[in-house]
Amino acid sequence: MGSRIRGEIMFLALVLGMYLSATAEATLRVGYYEKTCPHAEFIVKKVITKAVKKDSGLPADFIRMHFHDCFVRGCDGSILINSTSNNVAEKDSPINNPSLEGFDIIDEAKAKLEKKCKGVVSCADIIAFAARDSVELSGGFAYEVPSGRRDGRISRSSETFGNLAPPTFNLSQLTQNFASKGLNLDDLVTLSGAHTIGKSHCTSIDSRLHNFSSTATTDPSLDPAYAKKLKKKCPKGSTDPNLTVPMDPPSPQVFDSSYYKNILVHKGLFHSDQSLLSSSKTANLVKQNAANEYLFKKRFAEAMVKMGNIEVLTGKKGEIRLNCGVIN
Ligand code: HEM
Ligand SMILES: *[C@@H]1O[C@H](CO)[C@@H](O)[C@H](O)[C@H]1NC(C)=O
Ligand SMILES: *[C@@H]1O[C@H](CO)[C@@H](O)[C@H](O)[C@H]1NC(C)=O
Ligand SMILES: *[C@@H]1O[C@H](CO)[C@@H](O)[C@H](O)[C@H]1NC(C)=O
Ligand SMILES: *[C@@H]1O[C@H](CO)[C@@H](O)[C@H](O)[C@H]1NC(C)=O
Repeated sequence: MGSRIRGEIMFLALVLGMYLSATAEATLRVGYYEKTCPHAEFIVKKVITKAVKKDSGLPADFIRMHFHDCFVRGCDGSILINSTSNNVAEKDSPINNPSLEGFDIIDEAKAKLEKKCKGVVSCADIIAFAARDSVELSGGFAYEVPSGRRDGRISRSSETFGNLAPPTFNLSQLTQNFASKGLNLDDLVTLSGAHTIGKSHCTSIDSRLHNFSSTATTDPSLDPAYAKKLKKKCPKGSTDPNLTVPMDPPSPQVFDSSYYKNILVHKGLFHSDQSLLSSSKTANLVKQNAANEYLFKKRFAEAMVKMGNIEVLTGKKGEIRLNCGVIN
């Protein structure tokens, strides 16, 4: 045998070994419910599609819900658990309440799944599927979602604060926050692109517009004309939960590259969005995604799968919640 061929065989064996050890660790897999609940993903998609027809704001909620689930105790469905008399749950943190909606739709999908295959499909997986369907329904790529997550039994409002970055964060703070979840700068830039759809409450930009720092009333990284428009919609100190602004005014419900185009002209809605321009590495990624929508959508799908793996419960850990709002 020639040494070149021998080398190639050794290389293949190495790759196979790496593949096997990687799959042994990460037990999530595409088609996990194929045998136990064959139509699980289809059932979720049907419920989500119907709900989105009635309320076109929901896709943003499900994508954000998956993010907020995964960043607090891993993707374990803890975001869905209701508060009780002695516990304020994640759901009721001011970060999520009242801005995050769609819990009733997840409950509806769960009820349908329980009828078809009792105690099989986790609430954490339902969120991951719903987020994927939401990306697709908004014009992004459909992608395969590895599943097999199990549901956690703990949900605490207090844990949302240290784990979910506020919109006032700068790039180094965001980088640190993502790194603590095993996500890198590329993931940060790509996943922030979710802000190409949806809306924000005025409360989330109040300080950026009206009380930025001791030297500037308004964040100087925000385009002044855009700031003026935003201030009209969001008067100082407004706490009215009905007051919202679109994240991406040019195409508020379309999953496209326009989030990145906004950033390039200093019209990112949050300081955190605009901060992606503050290092050459992240600025380059912003430019790439702005210029190539296909590339952005492909990267986004991959980054969502990566995010969906954060600290997942598998095997015998956790439980399959029968009702997403309460632990078994
Ligand atoms: C990088 C750090 C991030 C920060 C600081 C941040 C912050 C925020 C804030 C403050 C809002 C507005 C909430 C409101 O006032 O209604 C929001 C909305 C949203 N976020 Fe993020 N976010 C980040 C990353 C992400 C990621 C990674 C995703 C998903 C992959 C995401 C998806 C969304 C979506 C879709 C909305 C719109 C929600 C709606 O229309 O109801 N965000 N985000
Ligand atoms: C980001 O914010 C932190 C905390 O306020 C600060 O210490 C740090 O210097 C800031 N970094 C940059 C690059 O502005
Ligand atoms: C403006 O911000 C400062 C520093 O964060 C804070 O102490 C002050 O109360 C704020 N003022 C208003 C009117 O919100
Ligand atoms: C917000 O809107 C709801 C429904 O449209 C209304 O009942 C409520 O009074 C509004 N809240 C405020 C503070 O304006
Ligand atoms: C959880 O709370 C929501 C709204 O407060 C309610 O509609 C839902 O029925 C509750 N779920 C359970 C299982 O109690």
